Amino acid sequence: RTTTVHVHPAYQVGEVNRRIFGSFVEHMGRCVYTGIFEPNHPDADSRGFRRDVAALIKELGITVLRYPGGNFVSNHRWEDGVGPLEERPRNLDFAWRSVEPNTVGANEFLAWCRRMGIEPMLAVNLGTRGLNEAMEFLQYVNGDTDTRLPQLRRSHGWEDPWNVETWCLGNEMDGPWQMGHKTPDEYARTVTEVANAFHRFDDKLSLIACGSSSRSMPTFGRWERVVVDAAFDNIDMVSAHAYYEPIDDDVASFACCAEDMERYIRDVVATLDHVAAMHHSDRRLKISFDEWNVWYQSRFGGENAIGMEHAPHLIEDTYSVLDAMVVGSLLITLLRHTDRIGVACQAQLVNVIAPIRTEEGGRAWRQTIFHPFALMSRHARGVVLDTRCEGPAISTQRWGGAGQVWTVATWDAENHDLVVFLVNRDLHERARARIDLRAFGDCKVVECLALDDEDIAAVNTADQPNRVEPRNATCDITSGILTFDANPASWNCLRLK
Ligand code: AHR
Repeated sequence: RTTTVHVHPAYQVGEVNRRIFGSFVEHMGRCVYTGIFEPNHPDADSRGFRRDVAALIKELGITVLRYPGGNFVSNHRWEDGVGPLEERPRNLDFAWRSVEPNTVGANEFLAWCRRMGIEPMLAVNLGTRGLNEAMEFLQYVNGDTDTRLPQLRRSHGWEDPWNVETWCLGNEMDGPWQMGHKTPDEYARTVTEVANAFHRFDDKLSLIACGSSSRSMPTFGRWERVVVDAAFDNIDMVSAHAYYEPIDDDVASFACCAEDMERYIRDVVATLDHVAAMHHSDRRLKISFDEWNVWYQSRFGGENAIGMEHAPHLIEDTYSVLDAMVVGSLLITLLRHTDRIGVACQAQLVNVIAPIRTEEGGRAWRQTIFHPFALMSRHARGVVLDTRCEGPAISTQRWGGAGQVWTVATWDAENHDLVVFLVNRDLHERARARIDLRAFGDCKVVECLALDDEDIAAVNTADQPNRVEPRNATCDITSGILTFDANPASWNCLRLK
């Protein structure tokens, strides 16, 4: 079964937006405590952050990090996470029914991001709190005047403003599970007020309004229209969230769930542009796809089963080869929309549905999904090229026909580096790709990597951390046509010069 892939340097979508390789740290489960931060770990640095985890995060190639939630943020009091440690209260987080000691707060996180060379993006609580607390938090974090909140930060030992540029105005406010859940009109009113005030403080801030928690939310589409219409002049992005797993054992549809993300992006872009038209504006708002991943929600016992402990083991999904292919296909989709995705964050970074897992006091390792992310972050440079495929389709119950092969290419003309990322979404059949590279002149293969396995359920564990790793594969170029055979459920990276 052969797919012909057309790729041409003139078919450019836009520059590779490096902020697509973002991630998310929430105070949830063991993402922060015993994830990135564990002062008693033998490999902790002087500030209590794990060096072994930091090394893996660097290898993963994260560019942006969203913090501190997630559902957590909608009942979070930022003041409790700043100032002298001994004065910080232990709180009960209602979102994840967990004990929050506030040992890590905004300053510790922002300082760690700076040391890691990662851009932070902060979320404010618009659930249990509102405009005033958001304005105070903004002044505490970014303020540089001789006034109460910047002074408070200085008194806590943080002299310079953090200058955080990107702010999420609430989290999943459309979801009935969210603390302080709102109707589209209620949220539109709140976000307009907050965005207006934030821009009064600094008109360079990049502001993200909540979109829908998934494409299947009952208010999807209307929510985006109402919110964007109200806040159009003061927001830059609208969020989108999507988690995928096989539903009713329909693994074929799961393998092709990038179809859903593709339609989701198109639907939101259409809505954003429709509202821009109503405003007689050429301004193009973008999507902040700030939560996406594979998440086996069916294995989650629900919030009420959580026992009000500190740092419980929550949704620590172990990912397979198939899951890695799906994650790779979702990243391909995000890259294909580089012109309209302002930022994207895989949820989450460590332990909680994450590419990195840790043991308390022990080892840290790469899950299968680590590999497509790390390699795409490393090699996607220059501009994104719009690849077109002609080939067989897989018939799926949820999305109808979906191409067996799903691809994107990036092209760094200066260095003559062409990279084709390609997944074979068929669970049983190999896919032959014939990639027409004649428009690039003389091309040689630099590297050809495949993430695949005879057992598509294979996983990495603490005892076998390298069971699933990218392997060197082979491909052939004859007269400008590259031929590559992709194994079932595989993610592949073809680098050419
Ligand atoms: O990432 C886990 C949770 O999923 C987040 O807290 C929430 O925003 C989403 O529903």
